[in-house]
Amino acid sequence: MVKIERMWTESFRPRTLDEVVGQTDIVERLKQFVRRVDFPHMLFSGPAGVGKTTCAEAIVNEIFPPNERSSNVKRLNASDDRGINVVRQDIKNFARIIPSGSSSYKIIILDEADQMTSDAQHAMRQTMERFNEITRFILICNYSSKIISPIQSRCAIFRFKGLNIDEIKLRLQYIAEKKQLQIDEEALNALYDSSEGDLRQAINALQASASLTSDITVDVVYQVQGYVKPTEVRAALMECLETRPNFSAARKRIQVLMESYGLSGQDIVKHLNRELSRISDDEISESVRFAALSMLSEVDYRIATGSNPQIQLDAFLAKIISVAQKQR
Ligand SMILES: Nc1ncnc2c1ncn2[C@@H]1O[C@H](COP(=O)(O)OP(=O)(O)O)[C@@H](O)[C@H]1O
Ligand SMILES: [Mg+2]
Repeated sequence: MVKIERMWTESFRPRTLDEVVGQTDIVERLKQFVRRVDFPHMLFSGPAGVGKTTCAEAIVNEIFPPNERSSNVKRLNASDDRGINVVRQDIKNFARIIPSGSSSYKIIILDEADQMTSDAQHAMRQTMERFNEITRFILICNYSSKIISPIQSRCAIFRFKGLNIDEIKLRLQYIAEKKQLQIDEEALNALYDSSEGDLRQAINALQASASLTSDITVDVVYQVQGYVKPTEVRAALMECLETRPNFSAARKRIQVLMESYGLSGQDIVKHLNRELSRISDDEISESVRFAALSMLSEVDYRIATGSNPQIQLDAFLAKIISVAQKQR
């Protein structure tokens, strides 16, 4: 039976600013605003999965009592399918309403604000000014440069950054503990590597790994991500570079990657290319490295234009063996 579980990114979304990982300067500034219970319009910019929406929601949680949230907060997305006109109308309609309960203003959280045309932004700017006394905006975007300067100059700007390795690992370890998972250091590093600082992605990969086993190793992480352990590709190359090269062993390794891991010929070429650039000078001479890289670009082109990947990769392996042998 398939067990359907909530997304961990949601169940582990911090509820308060204190719980947010990293972004320390931003969190400090936001806490000051929250303490004063007054703040300007805000613009949150930065890459995906680093805490922008989380911080906006944490502010809402800290400012409004639970029973006043639904009436005083509106969440909109500027890339909404219903079209920007509807969104603009929604913004205007909500902005003009008097706040309810004890609150002196309402909050509009507008995600993907940088998807708005500059005309739409100009119209929104008027709404921001007109209802400034009763409505505050939190605009969220990836690129602040796409927000018109009259809006930027009316907002306190917060530039979120990709999370670093310690921050990502800290949060993953916390979640792993709550979920009673075993996870080793190497697996945590692999999750960080593939996330590129995006915690949402890292948590999703952790959850996917945990759906296979509660004992998470680097192999599990690679498996769920359809990644090849770089060491497998490296091993295939080394079979060719040994003093006594083993063509069929190298070929076998590449085959396994294609068949069991579902990698395409071009995926393999990419991995080979990366490993060739990484192998140390002790293991490969410069001339063999250059020859191999240049053959690889040829193979890449041929596969892209329709040649059989298996045949091309076999030919590649055979050629490096012969180039490396001639050197000896
Ligand atoms: N700084 C952070 N601290 C803790 N969790 C985070 C942080 N950034 C992202 N996350 C996790 O990733 C999910 C997505 O984060 P979110 O704030 O929605 O990203 P975005 O920056 O794209 O708005 C959250 O639900 C949370 O689980
Ligand atoms: Mg977001």
